[in-house]
Amino acid sequence: MDAIENMLTRRSVRHFSPNPVPDEEVQLLLKAGMHAPSAGNSQPWHFVVVTERTLLDEVPKFHTSAEFIAEAHLAILVCADENLARPGRWLLDCSAAAENILLAAHARGLGACWIGIQPEPVRIEGARRLFNLPAHVHPLCLIAVGYPVETPPNVERFLPERIHVNRW
Ligand SMILES: Cc1cc2nc3c(=O)[nH]c(=O)nc-3n(C[C@H](O)[C@H](O)[C@H](O)COP(=O)(O)O)c2cc1C
Repeated sequence: MDAIENMLTRRSVRHFSPNPVPDEEVQLLLKAGMHAPSAGNSQPWHFVVVTERTLLDEVPKFHTSAEFIAEAHLAILVCADENLARPGRWLLDCSAAAENILLAAHARGLGACWIGIQPEPVRIEGARRLFNLPAHVHPLCLIAVGYPVETPPNVERFLPERIHVNRW
């Protein structure tokens, strides 16, 4: 599939087969994340690859929309190091990295879903404690990853009325 088809057909996947995701595939997702654009090319991201079932099972205890992580083979915690980021920019930089990971997963026949952590204090604190993050590192989101057992349909989201030419 080409890049445009990939973007137009990506959907969140929340049901996964028990098949393991090979490490080469995980490395490819992380590489895609690290190729995202960032302010001043600061690349302030870190990624925690979470494969331990006991850790994954802790997530729904502080996150009410993450029960499906129980089916995921792994999750990637996308984090920002505030010491590497341009002031006020890490959320933007790491969001670009997260989207690259979602698109790469889709391109490789994997399913993935963004599990939001920012800006909810309970989720931020929960992720900080569970994954042992240092104070200067901020969790953005978890991305649940696995081989999909569902194929959410393509949807049409193009809204011509949201497009403005030259002025609003
Ligand atoms: C910032 C952000 C936070 C999200 N948080 C969650 C979440 O906590 N749980 C979840 O199941 N999906 C979450 N999602 C996925 C959205 O629900 C999903 O992208 C949206 O419904 C559109 O569906 P699609 O991804 O299939 O196109 C999040 C997506 C974004 C961008």
